[in-house]
Amino acid sequence: MRPTKRDGNLLERARAVIPGGMYGHQSTARMPEGTPQFFGRSHGTRVWDADGNCYIDMMSAYGPNLLGYGHAGIDAVIREQMALGDTMTGPGPVMVDLAEALVGMIGHADWAMFCKNGADATSMAMVTARAHTGRRKVLIAKGAYHGAAPWNTPRPAGTLPEDRAHIVYFEYNDLQSLTDAARAVQGDLAAVFATPFRHDTFADQSVLDPDYARGVRAICDAHDAVLVVDEVRAGFRLSRDCTWDSIGVQPDLSAWGKVLGNGQPISALLGKEHLRAAASEIFVTGSFWFSAVPMVAALETLRLVRETDYLEKLTETGTYLRDALAKQAQSHGFGLRQTGPATMPMILFEEDPDFRFGYHWCRIAMKNGLWLSPYHNMFINGAMTLADMDEALEKTEIAFLDLKKNRANVPPVAALMPKAQLAIK
Ligand SMILES: Cc1ncc(COP(=O)(O)O)c(C=O)c1O
Repeated sequence: MRPTKRDGNLLERARAVIPGGMYGHQSTARMPEGTPQFFGRSHGTRVWDADGNCYIDMMSAYGPNLLGYGHAGIDAVIREQMALGDTMTGPGPVMVDLAEALVGMIGHADWAMFCKNGADATSMAMVTARAHTGRRKVLIAKGAYHGAAPWNTPRPAGTLPEDRAHIVYFEYNDLQSLTDAARAVQGDLAAVFATPFRHDTFADQSVLDPDYARGVRAICDAHDAVLVVDEVRAGFRLSRDCTWDSIGVQPDLSAWGKVLGNGQPISALLGKEHLRAAASEIFVTGSFWFSAVPMVAALETLRLVRETDYLEKLTETGTYLRDALAKQAQSHGFGLRQTGPATMPMILFEEDPDFRFGYHWCRIAMKNGLWLSPYHNMFINGAMTLADMDEALEKTEIAFLDLKKNRANVPPVAALMPKAQLAIK
């Protein structure tokens, strides 16, 4: 039996002093029963919970771990900068180096601004677009997550209808829907938000159709509106450039976060020349936005993105896992829906409308030391090897066997009732 006492005690104490015990996307309230909430440490591709149980971590911190937890080279520059200074009265010289690095790497980028979280970057994109156009309306795909600010949080408690009064929704990958939405707000359209692919929770992912991307660009051009690509979740897991640039469609702005500092808190807004004046005009800032340590981590992460074969490795390990899982599932009489890029696996079961098979499978894998999500896309990281994938597959084999044995009796997922479709992130 794997120990769970410390996590249980922590959660009990947390409930007394932290609203809900835990909040936000890392709350395990919607995860399978028995999922631990607190972590003691991480290394490479593994995390250890507060009770010391080790897991192969397929979530990679919900994305930020791109090259492995505690990457030696990145840690070395972090320690070096820590000794010099981190949060000071102004930024370090590294801020300029980092902006130059991003401008050099990302096709559409002529300038960069830094912040902390993805939502800072997406909110700055919106403000920049409005400052540039002098217009109000912002088009967003239904169900797409761009952060937890009042204009976009999926759980609107405490927000006002006015916060979203100028947000208009359209169907992802549906040009007619976007055309109609843009026409409905003609003359007042500031921006259209897009993502590298559709990565909603509790749903199959869908890859970006290049014709759709070109169509979105054309609609933005026709309305003189700003095209924003939100790379916060998928950045550098599909391409070393902005994913839209890599298929030949340049956005005007792009928002980055998560992977940028391989886990250090830093995000960025990148933009084209014609938006520089608006970006200079808006007032955006934060006490920790200019800290030097996350910037050196980001500079080194970008160097590794440019100079190593990390992306080819992510693709190889992700594809290996995907192919092997498909075979494994089939051999046990299950069908899997594995959608989106292999570097960001989304695994749902066929004939599982209320997600009970997926939850059961993930719960058993978790008990055996493999951290999977039954409702959110996962993230392959660069520390993972094919041997890690084989080890993960041993654990999924146990989970499939258990699911097969209990197929007729798997109970519905208590954590999902009554709102099974509630998209939380
Ligand atoms: C596509 C996308 N945009 C924005 C965000 C917000 O990022 P953060 O949680 O760092 O504010 C996320 C977070 O998951 C995201 O996936």
